[in-house]
Amino acid sequence: MQQQSVEFNPFSQAFQIDPYPIYHQLRSISPIHRIQSFSVDQWYITRYQDVQTILNDPRFTVDDLPHRLEAKASHLKQQGDFNHLIQTIHHWLFFLEPPHHTRLRSLLSRSFSAAKVEQLRPQIQVIVDRLLDHFTPGTPVDVMAQLAAPLPTLVSAELLGIPSSKQATLTQWGSILFRVFNRPLSLQDYQLINQVALEFKEYLQEVVSTLRKSPQTSLISQLIVLRDEENRLSEDELLALIGMLFSVGQETTENLIGNGIFALISHPQQLQTLQQHPALIQSAVEELLRYDSPVQILSRTAIADVELDGTTLRRGDKINLLLGAANRDPARFPVPDQLDIRRGEHSKLPFGSGIHYCLGSELARVQGQIAIHTLVQRFPKLTVEVDRVERRKTIVLRGFKVLPITVTVP
Ligand code: HEM
Repeated sequence: MQQQSVEFNPFSQAFQIDPYPIYHQLRSISPIHRIQSFSVDQWYITRYQDVQTILNDPRFTVDDLPHRLEAKASHLKQQGDFNHLIQTIHHWLFFLEPPHHTRLRSLLSRSFSAAKVEQLRPQIQVIVDRLLDHFTPGTPVDVMAQLAAPLPTLVSAELLGIPSSKQATLTQWGSILFRVFNRPLSLQDYQLINQVALEFKEYLQEVVSTLRKSPQTSLISQLIVLRDEENRLSEDELLALIGMLFSVGQETTENLIGNGIFALISHPQQLQTLQQHPALIQSAVEELLRYDSPVQILSRTAIADVELDGTTLRRGDKINLLLGAANRDPARFPVPDQLDIRRGEHSKLPFGSGIHYCLGSELARVQGQIAIHTLVQRFPKLTVEVDRVERRKTIVLRGFKVLPITVTVP
C-alpha cells in the first residue's frame, strides 16, 4: 500500500487530550501506518477489522517484556537491577504464550466466569453504597479518588482475600506496578516499579502465609490448594498471579468508571435517558467502553512476515493496535463519534480478542454497571468542574487523574 504523509505522534499533548480526530485522520490516510525507529519498524493499526484479525493470528505474539527488561538491566548494571519487577511479571499472562499461558490461565478462568462474578454483585453494591455515602450534595468531590480508584481495590481485596485495611497503599501499589505497560519509561520509573514490586511481594508473602494457616473461601486460598495439594503451580507463579490480578484490574476499571461518568455528564441527553430507563445500564456500559476505551493500545510482535491488505509486516516488527481508533471506525459503527447508549451494536474490542482476551472483563463490567447506575440514580443532577479536571499522562491507558464533580439531590 502506498504510504501517504501523515503526522502522527502518540506522545504529543494533543493526542493525550483528544486522540479521536487524530485516529480518524490516520485511519483514512494511512490505516496501516509505519514509523521507522532505530532498530525495528513500529506499525500503528487503526481499522477495527485489522485489529481483530491480528489479535487472532498466532503469527503475532505478545510483548516479551520480562526478557527485554533482563537485557536492559544487564546494560545498566551500575544503577541496580530490576530483578523484583522481572520476577513479578515473569508469570503474568500478558507476556506469555502457550503452553505456559494456557496452563496458568486455565487455573484462573473459572473464578472469573460470568456466573461467579454475578455472585459478587451484592458485595460490590455494598461497597459502592458506602463510598457514595461520603458524597455531600453541593460540595465538589473528586470522583476518581472517592469512587473510581477505591472500588476496584476493595473488590479485588474481597475476591482475593486480602485485608482491605491497607486500601490506599494497595491502590497506589497496583497503579505503580501497572506502569510497566506505559511508555516511554525512564530509569527512575523502572527503579520505582521495581521497589514497589518488592514491597508488594513481601506483603503478599505475609498474606499467603496467614491464609495457609487459616484458609478462607477466597481466590488466594483456592490457589494455595492448587499449589500445595495439587502441585499445579510453583510458589513464584502463585505470588505473581496474585500480584497480576490485583494490579491489572485497578487502573483499567478506574478508567471505565471515570471516563464513563465524564462522557455521560458531557452528554446530558444520554444521562437523562439512562436516569429514566435504568435497565439500559448494561448497554450504556458497553457503549461507554467503546466511546472512550480505558485501554487504548495493545502491542504485538510479528514472528513471521505477514501480508495485511497489501502491506508486508516483517518478522520482528512491533505492531501497535489502536483499540480506541478501532472502536471509532466508521466502517463498523455508524456515526462513531456519537455517544448512544441505545446503540444496537457493541464493540468486541475494549477487552481485546483471541487467547489473551481480558480475564476480568465480567468483573470490570459489573463494577462499572453498579458504580455508574448507583451514582446517577442516587444523584439526579451531576456537573463536572471542567477547569479542575486532570488527565493522566499515559498513552496505553486513557483516563483521569482528577475528576471533580458536584452532585445534587432534588
Ligand atoms: C474496564 C476494565 C478493563 C479493561 C478495559 C481491560 C482490558 C484488557 C485488555 C484489552 C486485555 C488484552 C491484553 C492483550 O491482549 O494484550 C486484557 C487482558 C487481561 N485482563 Fe483486563 N481489562 C479490564 C479489567 C480487568 C480486571 C478487573 C481484571 C482482573 C481482576 C483483568 C485481568 C486481565 C488479565 C489477567 C488479562 C490477561 C489475559 C491473558 O493474557 O490471557 N482485567 N484486559
